[in-house]
Amino acid sequence: MASGHINNLNIAYTDAGIGRPVVLIHGYPFNRSLWNEQVEALSSTCRVIAPDLRGFGESDAAATATMNEMAHDVAQLMDHLEITQAAIGGLSMGGYVALAFYKQFPSRVRALVLADTRAQADNEEAKQNREQQARKALDEGMAGIADSMLPKLLTPETVSKHPEIVKRVRDMMLKTKPEGAAAALRGMAERDDQTDLLAKVAVPSLILVGAEDAITPVADSEKMHQAIAGSRLVVIENAGHVSNLERTEQFNEAMLGFMKELTN
Ligand code: MLT
Repeated sequence: MASGHINNLNIAYTDAGIGRPVVLIHGYPFNRSLWNEQVEALSSTCRVIAPDLRGFGESDAAATATMNEMAHDVAQLMDHLEITQAAIGGLSMGGYVALAFYKQFPSRVRALVLADTRAQADNEEAKQNREQQARKALDEGMAGIADSMLPKLLTPETVSKHPEIVKRVRDMMLKTKPEGAAAALRGMAERDDQTDLLAKVAVPSLILVGAEDAITPVADSEKMHQAIAGSRLVVIENAGHVSNLERTEQFNEAMLGFMKELTN
């Protein structure tokens, strides 16, 4: 496992392939293994970096995990790897981090990939729900969180026909440190609304979303698509919130095509 001392934390990451750099940021409450298939597909033509965000996977947890802090971790990891500029991609919470990264470091972003995510902040109800979930994770561990999240993450078809995907998603959630999950939940609750940023995005942008995403529905991606000039929207049929795992082939095809155009 590769790791770097980033912002006083040990941050684990995958670094595979040679070529145009692309950073893939996982969602909540997952880890970098979410991207295994994308690392494999993209690393024949790109340098793919996939970090475990603070508090997830093999990275250290910290008391706080705001989207801005995690964006800073990504920037420092890029410094550590001597990468000045990269395509920055994120799924769900990873997308929140990608937008926070763009806001703070626009010149370091060659392109954006926003998968199953949204630009809006949480409303009051969502914030309260995050706090309840944070307490539940700290008091009871991740099993209850995993059970309640699973039906919202995957399509009913994935749940009934693909036990291997269900197991993989569940295992990632169970491996997450409760303190890491709680910090990220509180960080998501206080994240900035990035709606106004979208009109300022001046890099090629790919927006991907599962047609049946129940957490960040297609309408959220359509809003981002309308606001980001020249962006491309790909709606992946028969996929829910974890579209890269549920329809890997379609997801990879869209990403490979997008990354290939950047190199031309
Ligand atoms: C994620 O998949 O990262 C989270 O479900 C996003 C969220 O809860 O807003």
